[in-house]
Amino acid sequence: MAYTLNVNGKALSADVDGDTPLLWTLRDSLGITGPKFGCGVAACGACTVHIDGQPMRSCQVPTAGVGAAKITTIEAMSTHAVGKKVQQAWMDLDVAQCGYCQPGQIMSATALLAKTPKPTDADIDKAMAGNICRCATYVRIRAAIKRASGQKEA
Ligand code: FES
Ligand code: FES
Repeated sequence: MAYTLNVNGKALSADVDGDTPLLWTLRDSLGITGPKFGCGVAACGACTVHIDGQPMRSCQVPTAGVGAAKITTIEAMSTHAVGKKVQQAWMDLDVAQCGYCQPGQIMSATALLAKTPKPTDADIDKAMAGNICRCATYVRIRAAIKRASGQKEA
């Protein structure tokens, strides 16, 4: 069945089964490959996108369940008011190592700062807890979130 999805401000059509996870529809049908497959069971955060501004694990969202909600992916962060600050902080601090988890990390960090512009360490821990990094870039991720929020990094 054809589903029309609102992705990064564009109406895009995908012909998939309704229970196809959004991650697959984005990557395989629409060619939007920023969201990554890591675990497929909501345990790593690599697939994180925003749905109406909320960070969601796209491997767990059936395509039929999205409806008219606004999907935002890492591809749109360079023009997102908060996302571009986050990306700049990530580059300033050379956060990425292999890079695989980083789209998901940036999507979760951006959602946090959009809601909580000056997060505490506890806020950061809570918001980022579901995003796993096999390269253990956690210290730089925390520093970059602090920098993007205009707070002291240490
Ligand atoms: S691929 Fe979705 S949480 Fe790991
Ligand atoms: S940078 Fe390699 S998994 Fe996070």
